[in-house]
Amino acid sequence: RRAPAGVLVIFGASGDLTARKLLPALEQLADQGALTPEVALVGVARTPMSDGEFRDYCRQRAPGDGGARWRELTDTARYVAGDYDDPATYARLAEVLEECDRDRGTAGNRVYYFSTPPRLFGPIALSLGKAGLSRPGDGESVRAVIEKPFGWDEDSARALYADLTTAFSEEQIFRIDHYLAKETVQNLLALRFANSIFEPIWNRTWVDNVQITVAETIGVGDRGGFYETTGAMRDIVQNHVLQVLSLFLMEPPTSFHPEAIRDEKVKLLRAIRPLDEEAEIAANAVRGQYTRGGTREDLMAGYREESGVDPLSATETFVAMRLDIDNWRWTGVPVYVRTGKRLPARVTEVAMQFRQPPQLPLFPGPSTESEPDALVVRVQPDEGLSLRFGAKVPGHAFRVQKASMDFSYSSFTEQSPDAYERVILDALVGDPTLFIRADEVGRSWRIVDPVLRFWAQDDRPIPLYQAATWGPPEATTLVTRDGRSWRQSS
Ligand code: BG6
Repeated sequence: RRAPAGVLVIFGASGDLTARKLLPALEQLADQGALTPEVALVGVARTPMSDGEFRDYCRQRAPGDGGARWRELTDTARYVAGDYDDPATYARLAEVLEECDRDRGTAGNRVYYFSTPPRLFGPIALSLGKAGLSRPGDGESVRAVIEKPFGWDEDSARALYADLTTAFSEEQIFRIDHYLAKETVQNLLALRFANSIFEPIWNRTWVDNVQITVAETIGVGDRGGFYETTGAMRDIVQNHVLQVLSLFLMEPPTSFHPEAIRDEKVKLLRAIRPLDEEAEIAANAVRGQYTRGGTREDLMAGYREESGVDPLSATETFVAMRLDIDNWRWTGVPVYVRTGKRLPARVTEVAMQFRQPPQLPLFPGPSTESEPDALVVRVQPDEGLSLRFGAKVPGHAFRVQKASMDFSYSSFTEQSPDAYERVILDALVGDPTLFIRADEVGRSWRIVDPVLRFWAQDDRPIPLYQAATWGPPEATTLVTRDGRSWRQSS
């Protein structure tokens, strides 16, 4: 696949995301030959810079091997300095874009990448609309790429949607969830729909429960200010967890057309029973916040001690929830999800635990393990898949122990592209499969918003957990009260 002619316009071109992710990904794409010669780059930001300074900036941020195509892309890059709410910025941008069409053959195609603080998404979209830059002419394409957060709650998500769709049609809007660009998340689709052996057991008859873990060992680092108003529910559950969950549990799409897949995801999200009553929320959603912990050699600060964090903060750095899906396939199969910062391991995995055999006591004795059979998809690290099942331990006694069959992604010699390479190329090519549609965003907020509102007015202190432990005790109880336990993720 190669990106066709067009201009990639990065708003927030002098910012952190551009330097850390976008420019290195672009360089990779250029080096791999994935950008036709008619792809051009334009940066827009408030920081005053000339074209020449911006070109140096790009090359410094992504020095890599500096292949010929990357040099050409950066040698011809353009820069527009200005305030995002000043019409003059957009008038200047319009001139630069026309020059690109004339000099670089970019054919009126544009991809606007919003790499700015989220509060600017709406205003930039509206300004592009007013400047006549948001709608494509005949045979042209114009797209807007934005990254989460898509709003802060249901209402602000709706307001953002209104601003974006004043300027762009829904088909023009590409909402990134970088989890969808992870190779192993896409492998969920291959696992389920490129094989016939799993589908017959992918339902309530065989599956006892599903567990999704997104665990991080890092704390909030220097993002304390951002995290204070975000918290784990908005940062991870509303997007990454619900996206992975919907791909894993949705019905088979009728085709691999992007809309067919997105239709199935949103159907699944609609089937998740929202927790509306206070008692339901209290029973099924657990929050937590890390306190100082670790070992003497590696003592980690508590969340309230991190810079930019209120010393009395009640922001959650951990969430565990039990979700129930009211549809034909999954009724009665609880889905337990958990995510947190400063947990003991960095691991993202989806596990399907199967029902116990009807007569477990067939093999008597305490030595028979009761851990259920499971299919575990490891998203990161050590990407792969493992099937856990019982096997007889050699010896005179009939003792059953868990064994596992493992597949590791490292057995492929091909390299996985970085998530940002994938999303930038998809946006330039115009493939929306891995981007989130507005109805998915709305539905995800519908699931998490009542819980956030309940927590906001709940004056009980937030449960605490020591850094480098698996969350507060309430998270364990959430699962043990159902007679189950969390899988040991390590
Ligand atoms: C981001 C969150 O979306 O995902 C971060 O804002 C989090 O808080 C990150 O650390 C995790 O992504 P990954 O790819 O490292 O699992």
